[in-house]
Amino acid sequence: MSLLQAIQSRRSTYRLTNKSPIPDTRIQEIVNFTVRHAPSAFNVQSARAVVLFREQHEKLWDVGLQVIQTEMPPAVRPVLETKVAGLRAAYGTVLWFEDGAALDALKDKNPAIQGLIPEWSAHSSGIHQFITWTALDNEGLGCNLQHYNFSTTFIENVHKLWNIPSSWKLQAQLVFGQPEGSGPEKEKEIQPVEGERVLVF
Ligand SMILES: Cc1cc2nc3c(=O)[nH]c(=O)nc-3n(C[C@H](O)[C@H](O)[C@H](O)COP(=O)(O)O)c2cc1C
Repeated sequence: MSLLQAIQSRRSTYRLTNKSPIPDTRIQEIVNFTVRHAPSAFNVQSARAVVLFREQHEKLWDVGLQVIQTEMPPAVRPVLETKVAGLRAAYGTVLWFEDGAALDALKDKNPAIQGLIPEWSAHSSGIHQFITWTALDNEGLGCNLQHYNFSTTFIENVHKLWNIPSSWKLQAQLVFGQPEGSGPEKEKEIQPVEGERVLVF
């Protein structure tokens, strides 16, 4: 598929199964490729990734469930519990981090731009997430992007369970698995572009 076709086909897919149409080694290869080739400010290469397959992935979403049950208001818990059960039913998750130690070294070298570094770190992490998301989708996996790092309990458990260095800051969780149905779950409304969201002079 051409790059632009792959970008157009990438969607958020929530009905996922605990299977994969491609081997674990290929998934690993795609994450490695992303971390090797995605751009970062001043080529700081601060992105870090942890790939969780099967029972390790399920362990992550057991923590997600615990967070929902202990930190969310009772009124919204049932809906969120169903959502987390859907995430847990998938095949794996890529945890995306940014390494604060690498970013601190960059700040020290460039004091004039240090205020921009957190923003650039987030931009670069987003680029990494997008490359892996699009590439996995292109190979027949469905993905969705989560942010349970709103919860310090979630972050602490991730660090403890997989012995993650303390300087790695959790950014996002990319859940993947073989889609249950075929095609996008719902059509996406796309707002007008020309003359409104893109200006040309
Ligand atoms: C920066 C960013 C944050 C997002 N956070 C979440 C999230 O926390 N949970 C979720 O289910 N989807 C999340 N999404 C997915 C968006 O809701 C989704 O990409 C958007 O509705 C467009 O749908 P599509 O991915 O099918 O094109 C996020 C997407 C982006 C780019």
